[in-house]
Amino acid sequence: MLNRFGKPPAWHENPRILKLVFDGVKIKVVHYPNSAEASEHTPTPGSATARSGFHRMTACARLGIGPPFIHKFGAHTVACTCSCLTPLGAKRYPESMSILVTGGAGYIGGIVAERLIARGEPVVVLDNLSRGHRDAVPPEARFVQGDISDRPLLRSVFQEHKIRAVMHFAAFALVGESMDSPEVYYRNNVIGSLTLIEEAVSAAVERFIFSSTCALYGDRNPMPLNEESPPLPTNPYGDTKLAVERALGWLHQTRGRTYFALRYFNACGATADRGERHEPETHLIPLVLNAAAGETESIRILGTDYPTPDGTCIRDYIHVEDLADAHILALDAPASAAGIYNAATGRGHSVREVIDAVRRITGRQFGEVVAPRRPGDPPELVADPSKIRRVFGWRARHDLDSVVRTAWAFKLRQAAPVAEA
Ligand SMILES: NC(=O)c1ccc[n+]([C@@H]2O[C@H](COP(=O)([O-])OP(=O)(O)OC[C@H]3O[C@@H](n4cnc5c(N)ncnc54)[C@H](O)[C@@H]3O)[C@@H](O)[C@H]2O)c1
Repeated sequence: MLNRFGKPPAWHENPRILKLVFDGVKIKVVHYPNSAEASEHTPTPGSATARSGFHRMTACARLGIGPPFIHKFGAHTVACTCSCLTPLGAKRYPESMSILVTGGAGYIGGIVAERLIARGEPVVVLDNLSRGHRDAVPPEARFVQGDISDRPLLRSVFQEHKIRAVMHFAAFALVGESMDSPEVYYRNNVIGSLTLIEEAVSAAVERFIFSSTCALYGDRNPMPLNEESPPLPTNPYGDTKLAVERALGWLHQTRGRTYFALRYFNACGATADRGERHEPETHLIPLVLNAAAGETESIRILGTDYPTPDGTCIRDYIHVEDLADAHILALDAPASAAGIYNAATGRGHSVREVIDAVRRITGRQFGEVVAPRRPGDPPELVADPSKIRRVFGWRARHDLDSVVRTAWAFKLRQAAPVAEA
C-alpha cells in the first residue's frame, strides 16, 4: 500500500498505529491480533526501540482480548486503547481500583504482582508469610500480613481498597504433606478459599482468578490432558483445588460470578528479581540447580522404570512469566470467557532431559542417584493448551532452556555476596 505521495506509508499513517503523548511520554500504540504476536514485538527495556521513546504493544479488546493494557517499560508507558482512538484515560480503571493478590509473598504470586505493578495496576498483597518471603512482595504493593480465613481482616481489606479482582494464589501446595495431613490442606485451601470467595462476593468484586493445578487430573487420563479430561485427584492437595474450582463453577452458573481457574502445570523459571524459594523444595528444576551449585552432592532421580522413552517421568514445564501473561489475559478477558483453562506449553520433558539441560547450561557437573519411584507420580503429565491459545491468544514464550537459564541466573544472584555500602 502506498500513501498519497506514492511512498510506503510512514508509521503514523498506518491505521493500526496511533501516536499519543501520555504523562509526557511519547507513545506509539500498535494493535496486534493477539498477545503472543504483541509479546514478540515488545521491546526489551534499554533496547534501541525502548531508548527512542516509542513503544508498542499489545492485544486489542476490539479483537476479543479485553480492556486496554497499560504497561510500563522503565520510565515509558505503553498502551493499547483498543476502540482505538478513545482517550487513554477513559478506559482505565480509576487509580483506586486495586487487584488483591493473595499469596503474593510466594513464588508465583510475587511474580504476578510484579507484572501487575509494571502495567500500572494498584496491588494489595495478602499473605500470612507461612510459606512466603516478605522480600518477594514488590515494594510498590500494599502489603497486608494476614490469613485468607480471617473474615474481619478480609472485610477491612475489601472496604479500605476498592478491589476489582482477586488473584488467589495463597495455598499449601505440597503433595506429600497433603498425604500426611489432609485436614490441614482442607482447612487452609478449601475453608480459607471459601471464606475469601464469600467476602469477595459480598464486596461485589468483579472477577476471581484462581491458581488451580494439573494435580487434579490424577494418573488415569490419556495424554495430553485437556479441560474435559475428568478430574480424578490422587491426593488431598489436588482434591482441595478441585473443590474450590467447583465452588467457583457453581457460583458462576447460579449467580453469574466471573471466575477463571488456571490449571498450572509445572511452574518454573525466574524473573530478574524473583524466583523459586520453597522450603522445603520439592520441585525438580530448583533441586537440580542445587546440585549444580554444589549445595547437594547429587540429584535423586525418583524412578527410571517408567513407560517413557528414557524411563523417567515426563512433565510440562511452564515459565512463570508465561503464567503471569496468562493471568493478565484472564484479568482482561471478557466475562463470557470465564471458566477453566490449562496453563501449560503442551510439550513434555523427561527428568533426564531436565538434568541434561542443567548440565549444558550451567557447565557444572554433578552426580545422580537413582531412587525408587515416589508413590502416586504419574509417568507423564502434559497438557493440551489449545483452549487458552484459542480464547486468550496466549502461547508460551519460554522453552526449557530459557527456564533453566533464568532460574540459574536467579540462583547465582541469590548466592552473590551483597556489596558493602
Ligand atoms: N509452583 C507450581 O508449580 C504450582 C503448580 C500448580 C499450582 N500451583 C498453585 O499456585 C499457587 C502458588 O504456588 P507457589 O509455588 O507460588 O506457592 P508458594 O508456597 O510459593 O506461595 C504460596 C503463598 O501463599 C501463602 N499462604 C498460604 N496459605 C495462606 C493463608 N491461609 N493465608 C494467607 N497466605 C497464605 C504462603 O505464605 C505463600 O507465600 C498455589 O495455590 C499452588 O497450589 C503451583
